[in-house]
Amino acid sequence: PGRGHGHLPFRPIAPVPAASDAFTVPQGYRWAPLVRWGDPLFSTRDVFDPARLTPEVAERLVGYNCDYVDLLEDPRGRDALVVVNHEYTNEGIMFPPAATPQELERQRRVAMASHGMSVVALRRSRPGRPWAPRVGARENRRVTATTPCTFDGPAAGSPLLRTAADPAGSTVLGTLNNCAGGTTPWGTVLSGEENVNQYFRTPGTSAADRRYGFADKATSRGWEQVDPRFDTRTPGQENEHHRFGWVVELDPADPSAPPVKHTALGRFKHEGANVVVGRTGHVAAYMGDDERFDYVYKFVSSQRYRPGPRHREHNKRLLSAGSLYVARFGDDTGVAQVAATGARPSGGQFDGAGEWLPLVVDGVSQVPGFTTDEVLVHTRLAADAVGATKMDRPEDVEPHPTTGRVYVACTNNTDRGAAGKEGATAPNPRTANRHGHVVELTEAGDDVTATTFGWSILLLCGDPATTSDTYFAGFPPEKVSPISCPDNVAFDSAGDLWISTDGQPGAIGYGDGLFKVPLTGPERGRVQQFLAVPAGAETCGPVVRDRDGMVYVAVQHPGEDGTWDAQQSFFPDYVAPGSVSRGRWGGPRPSVVQVWRD
Ligand code: FEO
Ligand code: CA
Ligand code: CA
Ligand code: CA
Repeated sequence: PGRGHGHLPFRPIAPVPAASDAFTVPQGYRWAPLVRWGDPLFSTRDVFDPARLTPEVAERLVGYNCDYVDLLEDPRGRDALVVVNHEYTNEGIMFPPAATPQELERQRRVAMASHGMSVVALRRSRPGRPWAPRVGARENRRVTATTPCTFDGPAAGSPLLRTAADPAGSTVLGTLNNCAGGTTPWGTVLSGEENVNQYFRTPGTSAADRRYGFADKATSRGWEQVDPRFDTRTPGQENEHHRFGWVVELDPADPSAPPVKHTALGRFKHEGANVVVGRTGHVAAYMGDDERFDYVYKFVSSQRYRPGPRHREHNKRLLSAGSLYVARFGDDTGVAQVAATGARPSGGQFDGAGEWLPLVVDGVSQVPGFTTDEVLVHTRLAADAVGATKMDRPEDVEPHPTTGRVYVACTNNTDRGAAGKEGATAPNPRTANRHGHVVELTEAGDDVTATTFGWSILLLCGDPATTSDTYFAGFPPEKVSPISCPDNVAFDSAGDLWISTDGQPGAIGYGDGLFKVPLTGPERGRVQQFLAVPAGAETCGPVVRDRDGMVYVAVQHPGEDGTWDAQQSFFPDYVAPGSVSRGRWGGPRPSVVQVWRD
């Protein structure tokens, strides 16, 4: 299996029942946690004991619910930095029920300190072998819900971003709900702030608040009771929620540099952002807004990329100025038009043309009735106004490293075709879309600055044994691994696509996992399962370093439906329930896992 593709030969694993608490890899592979929730970054004297954690200690430990992951390796392959997002917390399984108001406030502050991002230095004996973290390394860093971050781009300083604490609209405390991301060609990491509405109580009356899901009700996390900036009804805090929902750029090489929130890339429920350098030298960032019936976006820089480390500071400003587009997918009738412009939609049942509708061009609003600030802060409203195509929860949107084709993971949308909702459309062809699909885009002329594209559907996911309308780019369905709810994607050195899933247990009854899909040749569309994650977890952040014989994934929310007293996962320590000893804990710990060839 896998002959002729990549350097990770494996026989696909059988689907794993959703209740299994094992981390399952193919024969010939081994796994170990790389970093776990609660691992120390700065000193081994910072002891992880969930029931007694303080915010001061928590911000010195690896955070919760790992999502985006990347490893920035030195050329010799013996030192690296792992950068990981911590999307959110699950207080019900992290802590015992709070007995006093003081304890409740402490837990809420620990939760804030367990959000954000971690950077951890790693070392190993030689390539192809597992890594160990270097506690106390100079590069180690935590970013949390209270770390100062800088705004840049056209909306920095806008009245829509100003608060009493920050009248300049230039600095915000913290980054929240950091979901997926992307590593830039200049070596920084982008992180998407996704479901930020859950952190704020707002009046909930404006069109923008309603469109983004902000409401006037107590949040389940209760942070507004700890810090009034999470209640925008508080005088002076009216805009605090506008300061979240951005793409954040972190420079792992500069532990003192504040993370930067790029207003030029718009504000929505950012899954992530993946940057590619086009042949003109301009860079494009592809982005999804992960909500049912939301949109796919592209940012194109005004300036050109300059290769080489001495241009790092120039390149770090590429996402500060440019043009923002949202995708409108046409149906089959547009194919001829796209052919004339040079795009190459592949033949098949599901393909068509599309266009990138301009929202902002070189810093100037293109949307009637919206100022540039309004387009960038209330991007969803601007995209509604121009008639963008409603997609089935677009998550990762990632360009292929050699073909330039862009892969859009639409995770699912059970509301499609429901009463009062839009029905099936060409790029979202299934009603009650439980299993999701993957769309392949081809920019006109293979140019990232193009304003038209061709598209085709690569996969309509599901278990072919129980679902009739699956499609695997024409590959025989009976020969693939069942797959549902595609979320994050990555590529290996042979150009094969790898897909991690979020939601298989509820959709097809199997645990979430990581899957390889060849994109070319007779095996195009042949989905093969590589690993499965433990009970309750989703698989995130895949990194495939097949030349090194390594794969990395984030195991997010293991045992998420448990309680403190009745945990449902003991991954990855698998010690006695509730026990705390020698850095191991008898409860679920979201972790980044490394897999290597034995
Ligand atoms: Fe945080 Fe769209 O997943
Ligand atoms: Ca995701
Ligand atoms: Ca990815
Ligand atoms: Ca997810």
